Formats: sequence, structure tokens, C-alpha cells
Amino acid sequence: MYTHAPTPTLAKENGAYYTPLAVADSLVRFAVRTPADRLLDPACGDGRFIALHANSVGVERDLVAAEKACERAPNAKVYRGDFFHWAETTHERFDCAAGNPPFIRYQLFAGETRGRALRFCRSLGVSFSGLTSSWAPFLVAAAALLRQGGRLAFVVPASIGHAPHAAPLIEYLVHHFSTVRILAVRKKLFPHLSEDCWVLFADGFGGATEHIEFIQVDCFNNFEERLALDSSKLVPVREWRDQWRSRLRPYLLDDAARSLYLNATQSKSSVRLGEIASVGIGYVTGDNSFFHLRPSEIEHWRVPAELIHPTVRNSRLLPSEVLSSSTVEDWRQSNQPAFLLRIPKCANLPPTVQSYLNSTRGEKARRAYKCRSRTPWYSVPDVRIPTFFLTYMSGEIPSLVRNDAAATCTNALHAVHLNNGKDTDRLLQSWRSPYLKLSCEIEGHPLGGGMLKLEPKEAARLLIPPPRLLPFGSEAEVHRAIRTLRGWRHYD
Ligand SMILES: C[S@@+](CC[C@H](N)C(=O)[O-])C[C@H]1O[C@@H](n2cnc3c(N)ncnc32)[C@H](O)[C@@H]1O
Repeated sequence: MYTHAPTPTLAKENGAYYTPLAVADSLVRFAVRTPADRLLDPACGDGRFIALHANSVGVERDLVAAEKACERAPNAKVYRGDFFHWAETTHERFDCAAGNPPFIRYQLFAGETRGRALRFCRSLGVSFSGLTSSWAPFLVAAAALLRQGGRLAFVVPASIGHAPHAAPLIEYLVHHFSTVRILAVRKKLFPHLSEDCWVLFADGFGGATEHIEFIQVDCFNNFEERLALDSSKLVPVREWRDQWRSRLRPYLLDDAARSLYLNATQSKSSVRLGEIASVGIGYVTGDNSFFHLRPSEIEHWRVPAELIHPTVRNSRLLPSEVLSSSTVEDWRQSNQPAFLLRIPKCANLPPTVQSYLNSTRGEKARRAYKCRSRTPWYSVPDVRIPTFFLTYMSGEIPSLVRNDAAATCTNALHAVHLNNGKDTDRLLQSWRSPYLKLSCEIEGHPLGGGMLKLEPKEAARLLIPPPRLLPFGSEAEVHRAIRTLRGWRHYD
């Protein structure tokens, strides 16, 4: 028996969410063609996949789960330990692999296991960044253990449709399998988790393809019917890569809606937000409650006005469309902690401010990680005055708010700096356009629980249409496309 890692216990750390039996059964039926086929589940949990086929091998690093797998699948071989450690050294090869790899985000997918996973994938010619989630390297490594003609059938997170680390995986698959099929499933495979899951099938290891077969189903139960109807959309790999930045999510739209959006982006009078502005995040204090003062505290510690700057500490403080000096006055009147202690690096500190820095709150703040790692600890870097504030998590559409009060903001918001002052009105106007709304859905990504998230790079790609109505399609079509994508992120 192979033993390598200790037994981690937390389901979240381990990505240990077991697959519904009906789904496991369908995946194994796709993967296994003859009783002699050798099946691998690289993260077998309690053994529900390997129990479905006698000639199976499972790997599992949780010793308790591995024990259950042995009981459930007495004919299978179960290796205990880290899959990547085993994959690096094993000479075993398989006709097929099926399962549900752990979805462990990069913050927890760390240390030796991640190092080994990324090294193993690099040796296969696949480079994942340090921000990759664990599932993508699992699939590459499992594929590399297949024999010629082999097959994969795996549950994958729906982020295969947009995450940057999905791109190197899909590139690997289309270069090593003759068929790659991705099934988008709208209703949750795991009803108790916020994460949406899709399914990946690949066939003909050793081949290659220029298309990704993309199928949409409302719920997993009827996917076999849909396969039989052969209702897949053939997505040309080149188009996926060049026109849609290696994202499959836009293919949830029909062809007419996708080309309507492409036409709009290619119009001479449209621009991307990143062409007229820079989008970044606000400052990080290290201890928000110490650095954000209420007017009563400013008075108590007698902090001079030149060391204070109004700030949007979180998106709840934002009014709609324009933040003016009267908003700041309202914050002052209601004693909001919305005033940043902004001390330049070489400032002469008045004794009153010095006593605030030496107070119990100051003693605590200076020990915070961010404060410890800068000099002087009390000087918050990257405090800028953006032209607009942009929220990055939203239900319907992110809010864009013009900064008429020369306020600053924390990293709870995106800070948008216009390259020139002229486009301010155009930007505010475009925010009401349905094209902009569609653009948020296409360029942003779902976050679970119906929310839409925009990373700075995604925000920079937002389409700013010309002020007058575009000739590319009716508003009704645009609204239909918006509804479709909102439906897929469960914001109905
Ligand atoms: C999502 S569960 C899936 C289990 C099973 N395949 C299923 O679908 O029911 C993922 C499993 O991967 C295991 N795991 C996490 N990291 C691993 C690693 N580096 N090597 C082997 N197993 C690992 C977890 O303990 C967990 O049981």
C-alpha cells in the first residue's frame, strides 16, 4: 500500500464533496467500454466510482476515505497518498479515467502538493500559474496516464467556462484527444454547494481535434438524451482562443447573440473601457478600523485636516452615479468611519497624532501583517483619487459612480482613472446601455449565489458603445442574451 501524506480532515481543504451516484454511474458508463478496461479515479474519495467497475485503481490521500473505498470496492486497488506523487513514479497505464477531482482554490492548494502538481504538468508541456485551482492539474495528470485511445469522464467546476487556468487544460485536451466534449449543466449537480458543476468527456487519447463539442442541458438527468440527439455546438478551437479569450461561457449564447456582441465590439465607434481608462484596486491599510476614523475620533485625537482624506471604505457607502461633497458632508454628519488617516512618509507628526499611533489600537495595528511589512508602518501606500468608483460584485450590474468629491477608496472597490477628462459623460451614459450590461455578463464571471464578479482585467474589457443606438441588433435581442447569461448564474 502506498502511503505518503498525513490524513487531512477538513472537507473544504481537501475538496471532498462526493458525487451523486447517478452521475458517477453515467460517467463510468461513458469511460468503460469493456470489462477488461482498466479505470483510474485519481481522487477516489469513498470509492463510489471505482466500485462501479471491477478492474479499477483509486488514489486517495484521506486515509479514512481510502479505508471506505477499500470496503466499497473490494476488487479495486487503492493507493493512499498524494495523487501527483504517485503519478510521477507509477508505470501503470489506464484505458480510462473518471471521477470528480478536488476543487481546491489556490489559497489552500499550496505547499508540496501544488509544487509537485505544477512540476508534473510542466513536464507534460502544460504551464499553470500559481493561481490555479487543483482540479485542472488533476485532469492533465490523469490524462497523461492513459493508453492510446483512452477516455476521460469528469465532473468539473463550471469555471471551466471562464477561469484562466481552464485555458491550459483545454489546450492540452484538444492537442491530445480526438474528441473533447463539455457539457454545461444549468441546475446544480450538488444542490447543497454554491459551486455549479459541468461535465467533461474526452475520447481518443493520442489524437487531436480542432473543435470543442459544447452541449447545454438544464439538468444532468437528461444529458444522455441530448447526446443521442447530437445537439452539440461545434466550437472551433481557434475561435474560442482568439475571439473569446479562451472562454466557453459566451457559447451559452446562441450564434446570433454572440455575433451581435462581436459586431458591436468591432465597430469603430465602440471602445473597451481599458482603452480610455485604467482599472485597478484601491489601497490596503492592513487595519481598516485603525486607519478609518469617525469625525468624533478625529476631534478626540485632534488630527489635523491635512492628514485626513474622505474615503469609500466599502460599496455600501456609495450613492448612485455621483459622489459629491454633499455625500461627504452626510458622512460627517452621521459620524461615519469614512475618513482615512493619510500620513505621508516623511511627515512631521504632531504629538496628538503620535499619541493615536501609540494608543492600544495603534499597538495592535502596527502588528498587522501589511503594516509590519512597510516603512513607516502608519503610511498607507497607493492612496489615489480615481475619476470613478466601480463595484466588482453585483447582482444585476456593477455600479459606476463619478467621484466629484476627490475621495479615495479601499480595495473593496475598483478605482477607474480616465486617461483624459473628456469621456466622463460618455462613460456614465454608456452605463445605462443594454450593450454595456451584456458586456458585464460576457466579460465578468459568476461567483455563486447569483453574483457577478468583475476582476480589473475583465473590467478593462467592458464594451463602451457609442452614445447613439447601435445598428447591430434590436434591444430585445440584447436583453434576451442578458437574461440567458443571468439565468446561467442563477440570477433569474
Ligand atoms: C471531490 S472529492 C471526490 C471523491 C470521489 N471521486 C467522488 O466523486 O465521490 C475529491 C477527493 O480528492 C481527495 N484529494 C484531495 N487532494 C488529493 C491529492 N492530492 N491526492 C489524492 N486525493 C486527493 C479528497 O480527499 C477527496 O476525497
